[in-house]
Amino acid sequence: MCLCCFVVFMSKPNVLVTFKLFPNWLDKIKQYGNVTSWSSEIPPDKDWIKENIHDVDGLLCTLTNKIDKEIIDSAPRLKVISTYSVGYDHIDVKYTKSKGIKIGYTPEVLTETTADLIFGLILTVARRIVEGDRIIREDKWKIPWQPDFLLGYDVYGKTIGIIGMGRIGRALVKRAKGFNMRVIYNSRTPKNDVEAEYVSLDHLLSEADFVVVTVDLNESTYHLINEERLKKMKPTAFLINASRGKVVDEKALIKALEERWIAGAGLDVFENEPISSENPLTKFQNVVLTPHIGSATVETRNKMAEIAVNNLINGLLGKPLIYEV
Ligand code: DGY
Repeated sequence: MCLCCFVVFMSKPNVLVTFKLFPNWLDKIKQYGNVTSWSSEIPPDKDWIKENIHDVDGLLCTLTNKIDKEIIDSAPRLKVISTYSVGYDHIDVKYTKSKGIKIGYTPEVLTETTADLIFGLILTVARRIVEGDRIIREDKWKIPWQPDFLLGYDVYGKTIGIIGMGRIGRALVKRAKGFNMRVIYNSRTPKNDVEAEYVSLDHLLSEADFVVVTVDLNESTYHLINEERLKKMKPTAFLINASRGKVVDEKALIKALEERWIAGAGLDVFENEPISSENPLTKFQNVVLTPHIGSATVETRNKMAEIAVNNLINGLLGKPLIYEV
């Protein structure tokens, strides 16, 4: 082996981390590579990524970093992209793969956590829990008990309509059964291992008391829930979305809420995040809003870090990724 080959062989790969990763996991990556990392909570802009990716072999990114053709073209040495997320709509997957670059992601570990949050949104919006909390904090609870005070809707025994029957959809079926709910679902194909009734999307929209969106964002699901589909929902039904904001046409949803086509919504994701208190959705009492926290538990975010870091290291070492897109 000539000396320069030996030097290349011995030198550590270069890694770029484009978000603020937990320090213990950053330390682990440093054992395998020379790391340049972003340390602010505000995501870096595209120019920073482009400037720093030129000599990089491995990229650890997350859903707030858009990895498009231009970024890929700025990274001639890139072998692996590992995203700290289950969603990968922020990556130009087709182009990345055409360059022979592997893509890792973090499914499975966040399934139950996200399903818990979705159920939390269902219960919170249907039983008006946030409204109740607000009334007390604003010192507006003046009469001890009244038969018609803050009436919500039952969850137990109702019909849940799940759009998309992947991991999270299945985790919702288990929870819904515990609430004695009738479960109907729509997905690209019927699943014979799911204890639920496969129906058309129109049928689901017109029957469900809770319409829950669990699909990935891609060209076919962009604005899947639009004006026409919102109009098909029952006026007593709730829309729940913790997948990606762009699956729902937010303008149409605002119109649906204003004109009372539906009873309310529970939303963890939005078309453009973060949203501010100026967003028209904040004016509705019958809407519960959470700031994209579907997977946000100590346990799950650590498991996601473990998988994302190991996907990255495996990619750098030429080993199979734990979860590859
Ligand atoms: C993801 O991983 O894609 C979620 O949206 C955040 O955990």
